[in-house]
Amino acid sequence: MAKVNENYLKLPGSYLFSTIAKKVAAFQAEHPDREIIKMVIGDVTRPLVPAVIEAMHKAVDEMGTAEGFRGYGPEQGYDFLRNKIVEFDYKGLGIEADEIFVSDGAKSDCGNIGDIFGIDNKVAVCDPVYPVYVDTNAMAGRAGEFIEDHWSNLYYMPCTAENGFMPELPKEKVDIIYLCFPNNPTGETATRDQLKVWVDYAKANGSVILFDSAYEAFITEDDVPHSIYEVEGAKEVAIEFRSFSKTAGFTGTRCAYTVVPKALKVNGTELNALWNRRQCTKFNGVPYIIQKAAEAVYTDEGRKQIMENINYYLENAKIMREALSGAGLEVYGGKNSPYVWAKAPNGMKSWDFFEKLLNEAGVVSTPGSGFGPSGEGYIRFTAFSTRENTIKAMENVKAIL
Ligand code: MLT
Repeated sequence: MAKVNENYLKLPGSYLFSTIAKKVAAFQAEHPDREIIKMVIGDVTRPLVPAVIEAMHKAVDEMGTAEGFRGYGPEQGYDFLRNKIVEFDYKGLGIEADEIFVSDGAKSDCGNIGDIFGIDNKVAVCDPVYPVYVDTNAMAGRAGEFIEDHWSNLYYMPCTAENGFMPELPKEKVDIIYLCFPNNPTGETATRDQLKVWVDYAKANGSVILFDSAYEAFITEDDVPHSIYEVEGAKEVAIEFRSFSKTAGFTGTRCAYTVVPKALKVNGTELNALWNRRQCTKFNGVPYIIQKAAEAVYTDEGRKQIMENINYYLENAKIMREALSGAGLEVYGGKNSPYVWAKAPNGMKSWDFFEKLLNEAGVVSTPGSGFGPSGEGYIRFTAFSTRENTIKAMENVKAIL
Protein backbone atom coordinates (compact mmCIF):
# COMPACT_ATOMS: atom_id res chain seq x y z
CA MET A 1 0.00 0.00 0.00
CA ALA A 2 1.24 3.46 -0.83
CA LYS A 3 2.26 5.63 2.08
CA VAL A 4 2.23 9.40 2.25
CA ASN A 5 5.07 11.52 3.59
CA GLU A 6 3.72 11.75 7.12
CA ASN A 7 5.75 14.86 7.80
CA TYR A 8 3.17 16.74 5.75
CA LEU A 9 0.48 15.67 8.20
CA LYS A 10 2.32 17.45 11.00
CA LEU A 11 2.18 20.84 9.24
CA PRO A 12 -0.16 23.28 10.91
CA GLY A 13 -3.03 24.60 8.71
CA SER A 14 -2.05 26.03 5.37
CA TYR A 15 0.89 28.13 4.21
CA LEU A 16 0.72 31.55 5.94
CA PHE A 17 -0.10 33.56 2.84
CA SER A 18 -2.78 31.09 1.71
CA THR A 19 -4.44 31.34 5.13
CA ILE A 20 -4.55 35.12 4.82
CA ALA A 21 -5.82 34.96 1.23
CA LYS A 22 -8.69 32.73 2.40
CA LYS A 23 -9.59 35.12 5.21
CA VAL A 24 -9.56 38.09 2.84
CA ALA A 25 -11.69 36.23 0.26
CA ALA A 26 -14.25 35.43 2.98
CA PHE A 27 -14.28 39.08 4.11
CA GLN A 28 -14.76 40.27 0.53
CA ALA A 29 -17.60 37.82 -0.02
CA GLU A 30 -19.33 39.17 3.09
CA HIS A 31 -18.61 42.84 2.28
CA PRO A 32 -18.65 43.09 -1.53
CA ASP A 33 -18.80 46.90 -1.40
CA ARG A 34 -15.84 47.45 0.88
CA GLU A 35 -12.56 48.54 -0.71
CA ILE A 36 -9.61 46.43 0.40
CA ILE A 37 -5.95 47.45 0.11
CA LYS A 38 -3.52 44.55 0.25
CA MET A 39 -0.18 45.14 1.93
CA VAL A 40 0.32 41.49 2.64
CA ILE A 41 2.46 39.21 0.45
CA GLY A 42 5.54 40.89 -0.99
CA ASP A 43 4.24 41.02 -4.53
CA VAL A 44 5.24 43.92 -6.76
CA THR A 45 2.83 46.24 -8.57
CA ARG A 46 5.11 48.19 -10.97
CA PRO A 47 5.24 46.72 -14.49
CA LEU A 48 8.37 45.15 -15.95
CA VAL A 49 10.76 47.87 -17.14
CA PRO A 50 11.12 48.70 -20.89
CA ALA A 51 14.67 47.25 -21.17
CA VAL A 52 13.39 43.89 -19.91
CA ILE A 53 10.35 43.90 -22.18
CA GLU A 54 12.44 44.75 -25.23
CA ALA A 55 14.90 41.90 -24.50
CA MET A 56 12.02 39.50 -23.94
CA HIS A 57 10.37 40.43 -27.26
CA LYS A 58 13.66 39.93 -29.08
CA ALA A 59 14.15 36.54 -27.47
CA VAL A 60 10.62 35.50 -28.45
CA ASP A 61 11.36 36.42 -32.07
CA GLU A 62 14.64 34.49 -31.96
CA MET A 63 12.81 31.40 -30.77
CA GLY A 64 10.65 31.62 -33.90
CA THR A 65 13.62 31.25 -36.25
CA ALA A 66 15.52 28.09 -37.20
CA GLU A 67 18.86 29.68 -36.19
CA GLY A 68 17.64 31.23 -32.96
CA PHE A 69 15.45 28.41 -31.67
CA ARG A 70 16.54 26.71 -28.44
CA GLY A 71 15.28 23.58 -26.77
CA TYR A 72 16.52 22.44 -23.37
CA GLY A 73 19.02 24.90 -21.99
CA PRO A 74 21.78 24.25 -19.47
CA GLU A 75 20.22 23.27 -16.12
CA GLN A 76 22.57 25.73 -14.37
CA GLY A 77 21.57 28.67 -16.56
CA TYR A 78 22.99 30.18 -19.73
CA ASP A 79 26.54 31.52 -19.53
CA PHE A 80 25.40 34.95 -20.78
CA LEU A 81 23.38 35.42 -17.58
CA ARG A 82 25.78 33.68 -15.18
CA ASN A 83 28.62 35.87 -16.45
CA LYS A 84 26.58 39.06 -15.98
CA ILE A 85 25.67 38.03 -12.43
CA VAL A 86 29.34 37.53 -11.60
CA GLU A 87 30.36 40.79 -13.26
CA PHE A 88 27.74 42.99 -11.64
CA ASP A 89 26.52 41.32 -8.44
CA TYR A 90 29.80 39.76 -7.26
CA LYS A 91 32.36 42.18 -8.63
CA GLY A 92 35.61 41.78 -6.72
CA LEU A 93 34.24 39.00 -4.52
CA GLY A 94 35.92 36.11 -6.33
CA ILE A 95 32.73 34.27 -7.27
CA GLU A 96 32.89 32.39 -10.58
CA ALA A 97 30.21 31.67 -13.16
CA ASP A 98 30.14 27.94 -12.40
CA GLU A 99 29.23 28.77 -8.81
CA ILE A 100 25.99 30.45 -9.98
CA PHE A 101 22.86 28.33 -10.52
CA VAL A 102 20.01 30.17 -12.25
CA SER A 103 16.57 29.03 -11.12
CA ASP A 104 12.89 29.86 -11.13
CA GLY A 105 12.85 31.38 -7.65
CA ALA A 106 14.61 31.93 -4.36
CA LYS A 107 11.60 30.43 -2.60
CA SER A 108 12.03 27.15 -4.50
CA ASP A 109 15.80 27.16 -3.99
CA CYS A 110 15.54 27.91 -0.24
CA GLY A 111 13.21 24.92 0.03
CA ASN A 112 14.96 22.58 -2.41
CA ILE A 113 18.43 23.12 -0.93
CA GLY A 114 17.40 20.77 1.86
CA ASP A 115 17.72 17.89 -0.65
CA ILE A 116 21.51 17.99 -0.35
CA PHE A 117 21.58 17.90 3.46
CA GLY A 118 21.07 14.91 5.75
CA ILE A 119 17.90 14.64 7.82
CA ASP A 120 19.80 14.62 11.10
CA ASN A 121 21.18 18.16 10.78
CA LYS A 122 20.19 20.55 13.56
CA VAL A 123 18.64 23.58 11.86
CA ALA A 124 18.61 27.10 13.32
CA VAL A 125 16.15 29.73 12.14
CA CYS A 126 15.58 33.32 13.11
CA ASP A 127 12.31 33.98 14.89
CA PRO A 128 10.32 35.62 13.25
CA VAL A 129 11.27 33.96 9.97
CA TYR A 130 10.20 33.53 6.33
CA PRO A 131 7.95 30.44 6.72
CA VAL A 132 9.47 28.59 3.75
CA TYR A 133 12.64 27.71 5.68
CA VAL A 134 10.62 26.18 8.50
CA ASP A 135 7.91 24.42 6.49
CA THR A 136 10.34 22.83 4.03
CA ASN A 137 12.44 21.44 6.88
CA ALA A 138 9.27 20.12 8.49
CA MET A 139 8.29 18.44 5.19
CA ALA A 140 11.72 16.80 5.05
CA GLY A 141 11.37 15.48 8.61
CA ARG A 142 14.05 17.69 10.12
CA ALA A 143 11.81 19.83 12.34
CA GLY A 144 10.37 17.26 14.77
CA GLU A 145 6.84 17.85 16.06
CA PHE A 146 4.76 21.02 15.96
CA ILE A 147 3.89 21.98 19.54
CA GLU A 148 1.59 25.01 19.99
CA ASP A 149 3.63 27.59 18.08
CA HIS A 150 6.99 25.96 17.37
CA TRP A 151 8.77 22.87 16.06
CA SER A 152 10.44 20.70 18.67
CA ASN A 153 13.63 20.04 16.72
CA LEU A 154 14.36 23.45 15.25
CA TYR A 155 16.57 25.91 17.07
CA TYR A 156 14.76 29.27 17.19
CA MET A 157 16.85 32.42 17.45
CA PRO A 158 14.62 35.26 18.69
CA CYS A 159 15.03 38.55 16.83
CA THR A 160 13.33 41.20 18.88
CA ALA A 161 13.45 44.94 19.40
CA GLU A 162 15.56 44.21 22.51
CA ASN A 163 18.39 42.60 20.53
CA GLY A 164 18.03 44.93 17.54
CA PHE A 165 16.48 42.07 15.52
CA MET A 166 19.90 40.41 15.34
CA PRO A 167 19.96 36.76 16.42
CA GLU A 168 22.38 35.73 19.14
CA LEU A 169 24.76 32.84 18.55
CA PRO A 170 23.11 29.50 19.42
CA LYS A 171 23.78 28.09 22.87
CA GLU A 172 23.93 24.58 21.45
CA LYS A 173 25.75 23.40 18.34
CA VAL A 174 23.71 23.82 15.15
CA ASP A 175 24.58 22.53 11.69
CA ILE A 176 22.52 24.63 9.29
CA ILE A 177 21.73 28.29 9.90
CA TYR A 178 19.23 30.29 7.84
CA LEU A 179 19.95 34.01 7.78
CA CYS A 180 18.07 36.61 5.73
CA PHE A 181 19.28 40.21 5.44
CA PRO A 182 17.72 42.67 4.75
CA ASN A 183 15.37 40.60 6.80
CA ASN A 184 12.00 39.25 5.89
CA PRO A 185 9.82 39.98 7.85
CA THR A 186 11.40 42.67 10.09
CA GLY A 187 13.02 44.72 7.32
CA GLU A 188 16.09 45.16 9.54
CA THR A 189 19.69 44.66 8.37
CA ALA A 190 23.03 43.21 9.49
CA THR A 191 26.40 44.97 9.27
CA ARG A 192 29.55 43.31 7.94
CA ASP A 193 30.86 42.87 11.50
CA GLN A 194 27.62 41.24 12.59
CA LEU A 195 27.75 38.80 9.68
CA LYS A 196 31.40 38.03 10.43
CA VAL A 197 30.35 36.66 13.82
CA TRP A 198 28.18 34.12 11.98
CA VAL A 199 30.85 33.22 9.46
CA ASP A 200 33.30 32.63 12.34
CA TYR A 201 30.73 30.51 14.18
CA ALA A 202 30.08 28.41 11.07
CA LYS A 203 33.80 27.89 10.52
CA ALA A 204 34.40 26.88 14.12
CA ASN A 205 31.46 24.44 14.19
CA GLY A 206 31.46 23.01 10.67
CA SER A 207 28.04 24.61 10.05
CA VAL A 208 26.61 25.87 6.77
CA ILE A 209 24.89 29.28 6.49
CA LEU A 210 21.99 29.55 4.05
CA PHE A 211 21.97 33.27 3.35
CA ASP A 212 18.88 34.75 1.72
CA SER A 213 19.66 38.14 0.21
CA ALA A 214 16.56 38.44 -1.96
CA TYR A 215 16.09 42.05 -0.77
CA GLU A 216 19.66 43.33 -1.24
CA ALA A 217 18.63 45.75 -4.02
CA PHE A 218 16.74 47.78 -1.41
CA ILE A 219 19.86 48.54 0.64
CA THR A 220 20.46 52.27 0.87
CA GLU A 221 23.06 52.44 3.65
CA ASP A 222 26.80 52.02 2.99
CA ASP A 223 27.77 49.77 5.90
CA VAL A 224 25.10 47.19 5.03
CA PRO A 225 26.59 44.33 2.98
CA HIS A 226 24.71 43.17 -0.13
CA SER A 227 26.26 39.71 -0.03
CA ILE A 228 27.59 37.45 2.71
CA TYR A 229 30.66 36.96 0.51
CA GLU A 230 31.69 40.50 1.45
CA VAL A 231 32.79 38.82 4.69
CA GLU A 232 36.14 37.10 4.48
CA GLY A 233 35.93 33.33 4.63
CA ALA A 234 32.20 33.21 3.83
CA LYS A 235 32.80 31.24 0.65
CA GLU A 236 33.88 28.30 2.80
CA VAL A 237 30.66 28.27 4.83
CA ALA A 238 27.78 29.94 3.00
CA ILE A 239 25.29 29.45 0.18
CA GLU A 240 23.55 32.62 -1.01
CA PHE A 241 20.09 33.02 -2.58
CA ARG A 242 19.15 35.97 -4.79
CA SER A 243 16.15 36.77 -6.88
CA PHE A 244 14.99 39.03 -9.70
CA SER A 245 11.50 38.99 -8.16
CA LYS A 246 11.72 42.05 -5.95
CA THR A 247 14.80 43.51 -7.65
CA ALA A 248 13.28 43.67 -11.13
CA GLY A 249 9.60 42.89 -10.68
CA PHE A 250 9.90 39.24 -11.76
CA THR A 251 7.43 37.78 -9.23
CA GLY A 252 5.29 36.53 -12.11
CA THR A 253 8.15 36.15 -14.59
CA ARG A 254 10.27 33.83 -12.39
CA CYS A 255 14.02 34.06 -12.33
CA ALA A 256 16.47 33.83 -9.43
CA TYR A 257 19.83 32.28 -8.67
CA THR A 258 21.75 30.49 -5.95
CA VAL A 259 25.47 30.77 -5.35
CA VAL A 260 27.22 27.61 -4.16
CA PRO A 261 30.96 28.31 -3.90
CA LYS A 262 33.30 25.45 -4.72
CA ALA A 263 35.24 26.23 -1.55
CA LEU A 264 32.21 25.15 0.48
CA LYS A 265 32.74 21.58 1.65
CA VAL A 266 30.98 19.45 4.23
CA ASN A 267 33.12 16.57 5.47
CA GLY A 268 35.24 16.97 2.35
CA THR A 269 32.24 16.89 -0.04
CA GLU A 270 31.81 19.89 -2.35
CA LEU A 271 28.26 21.19 -2.06
CA ASN A 272 28.57 22.78 -5.51
CA ALA A 273 28.81 19.29 -7.05
CA LEU A 274 25.84 18.01 -5.03
CA TRP A 275 23.63 20.96 -5.94
CA ASN A 276 24.64 20.61 -9.58
CA ARG A 277 23.68 16.92 -9.42
CA ARG A 278 20.36 17.80 -7.81
CA GLN A 279 19.52 20.49 -10.35
CA CYS A 280 20.50 18.38 -13.37
CA THR A 281 18.20 15.61 -12.13
CA LYS A 282 15.20 17.60 -10.97
CA PHE A 283 15.28 20.85 -12.95
CA ASN A 284 15.37 21.70 -16.65
CA GLY A 285 16.46 25.29 -16.38
CA VAL A 286 14.76 28.66 -16.72
CA PRO A 287 13.35 29.49 -20.20
CA TYR A 288 15.77 31.20 -22.58
CA ILE A 289 13.28 34.08 -23.02
CA ILE A 290 13.21 34.72 -19.28
CA GLN A 291 16.98 34.53 -18.89
CA LYS A 292 17.34 37.05 -21.73
CA ALA A 293 14.90 39.30 -19.87
CA ALA A 294 16.98 38.92 -16.69
CA GLU A 295 20.18 39.69 -18.59
CA ALA A 296 18.65 43.04 -19.65
CA VAL A 297 18.48 44.05 -15.98
CA TYR A 298 22.27 44.49 -16.15
CA THR A 299 22.28 46.93 -19.09
CA ASP A 300 22.72 50.65 -18.32
CA GLU A 301 19.06 51.38 -19.10
CA GLY A 302 17.89 48.26 -17.29
CA ARG A 303 19.74 49.15 -14.10
CA LYS A 304 18.52 52.72 -14.20
CA GLN A 305 14.92 51.63 -14.82
CA ILE A 306 14.81 49.00 -12.07
CA MET A 307 16.33 51.47 -9.59
CA GLU A 308 13.48 53.88 -10.35
CA ASN A 309 11.02 51.17 -9.28
CA ILE A 310 13.01 50.24 -6.19
CA ASN A 311 13.15 53.90 -5.16
CA TYR A 312 9.40 54.15 -5.73
CA TYR A 313 8.83 51.28 -3.27
CA LEU A 314 11.35 52.74 -0.81
CA GLU A 315 9.44 56.04 -0.91
CA ASN A 316 6.26 54.07 -0.14
CA ALA A 317 8.09 52.52 2.81
CA LYS A 318 9.07 55.98 4.04
CA ILE A 319 5.47 57.18 3.80
CA MET A 320 4.40 54.12 5.79
CA ARG A 321 7.08 54.51 8.45
CA GLU A 322 6.16 58.16 8.96
CA ALA A 323 2.41 57.51 9.06
CA LEU A 324 2.64 54.57 11.46
CA SER A 325 5.12 56.17 13.84
CA GLY A 326 3.11 59.40 13.63
CA ALA A 327 0.12 57.37 14.80
CA GLY A 328 2.12 56.24 17.82
CA LEU A 329 3.28 52.77 16.73
CA GLU A 330 6.79 51.44 17.21
CA VAL A 331 8.08 50.97 13.67
CA TYR A 332 11.08 49.04 12.31
CA GLY A 333 12.51 48.20 8.88
CA GLY A 334 11.54 50.01 5.69
CA LYS A 335 14.85 51.88 5.28
CA ASN A 336 16.79 49.20 3.41
CA SER A 337 13.82 46.99 2.77
CA PRO A 338 10.32 46.91 1.31
CA TYR A 339 8.97 45.58 4.62
CA VAL A 340 7.79 47.68 7.54
CA TRP A 341 7.45 45.87 10.86
CA ALA A 342 5.23 47.56 13.42
CA LYS A 343 4.28 46.75 16.99
CA ALA A 344 0.55 46.41 17.53
CA PRO A 345 -0.88 49.05 19.88
CA ASN A 346 -1.81 48.45 23.52
CA GLY A 347 -0.32 44.96 23.69
CA MET A 348 -2.71 43.62 21.06
CA LYS A 349 -1.95 40.22 19.56
CA SER A 350 -0.93 40.03 15.92
CA TRP A 351 -4.07 38.30 14.59
CA ASP A 352 -6.33 40.67 16.59
CA PHE A 353 -4.57 43.66 15.07
CA PHE A 354 -4.75 42.02 11.63
CA GLU A 355 -8.56 41.65 12.05
CA LYS A 356 -8.92 45.24 13.26
CA LEU A 357 -6.94 46.55 10.29
CA LEU A 358 -9.00 44.46 7.88
CA ASN A 359 -12.42 45.15 9.41
CA GLU A 360 -12.03 48.81 10.31
CA ALA A 361 -9.42 50.14 7.85
CA GLY A 362 -9.85 47.73 4.92
CA VAL A 363 -6.09 47.10 4.97
CA VAL A 364 -4.62 43.61 4.71
CA SER A 365 -1.34 43.07 6.53
CA THR A 366 0.56 39.98 7.68
CA PRO A 367 0.32 39.03 11.38
CA GLY A 368 3.80 38.85 12.90
CA SER A 369 3.00 35.66 14.79
CA GLY A 370 2.59 33.90 11.42
CA PHE A 371 6.36 34.26 11.08
CA GLY A 372 7.14 32.62 14.42
CA PRO A 373 6.53 32.93 18.17
CA SER A 374 8.70 36.05 18.57
CA GLY A 375 6.63 37.80 15.90
CA GLU A 376 3.65 37.82 18.28
CA GLY A 377 2.41 41.36 18.87
CA TYR A 378 3.78 42.64 15.54
CA ILE A 379 2.36 43.18 12.08
CA ARG A 380 4.14 43.37 8.70
CA PHE A 381 3.19 45.74 5.89
CA THR A 382 4.74 45.64 2.42
CA ALA A 383 5.70 48.74 0.48
CA PHE A 384 4.91 47.11 -2.88
CA SER A 385 1.50 48.76 -3.32
CA THR A 386 0.89 51.66 -5.65
CA ARG A 387 1.63 55.11 -4.23
CA GLU A 388 -2.06 55.96 -4.26
CA ASN A 389 -3.00 52.84 -2.29
CA THR A 390 -0.11 53.29 0.11
CA ILE A 391 -1.27 56.80 0.98
CA LYS A 392 -4.90 55.75 1.21
CA ALA A 393 -4.09 52.71 3.36
CA MET A 394 -2.04 54.80 5.78
CA GLU A 395 -4.82 57.36 6.08
CA ASN A 396 -7.28 54.56 6.85
CA VAL A 397 -4.95 53.03 9.43
CA LYS A 398 -4.25 56.38 11.12
CA ALA A 399 -8.00 57.01 11.34
CA ILE A 400 -8.58 53.87 13.44
CA LEU A 401 -5.60 54.19 15.81
C1 MLT B 1 6.70 37.56 1.43
O1 MLT B 1 5.70 38.26 1.38
O2 MLT B 1 7.23 37.22 2.50
C2 MLT B 1 7.33 37.14 0.15
O3 MLT B 1 6.76 37.80 -0.91
C3 MLT B 1 7.14 35.75 -0.09
C4 MLT B 1 7.99 35.27 -1.18
O4 MLT B 1 8.83 35.97 -1.74
O5 MLT B 1 7.82 34.10 -1.50
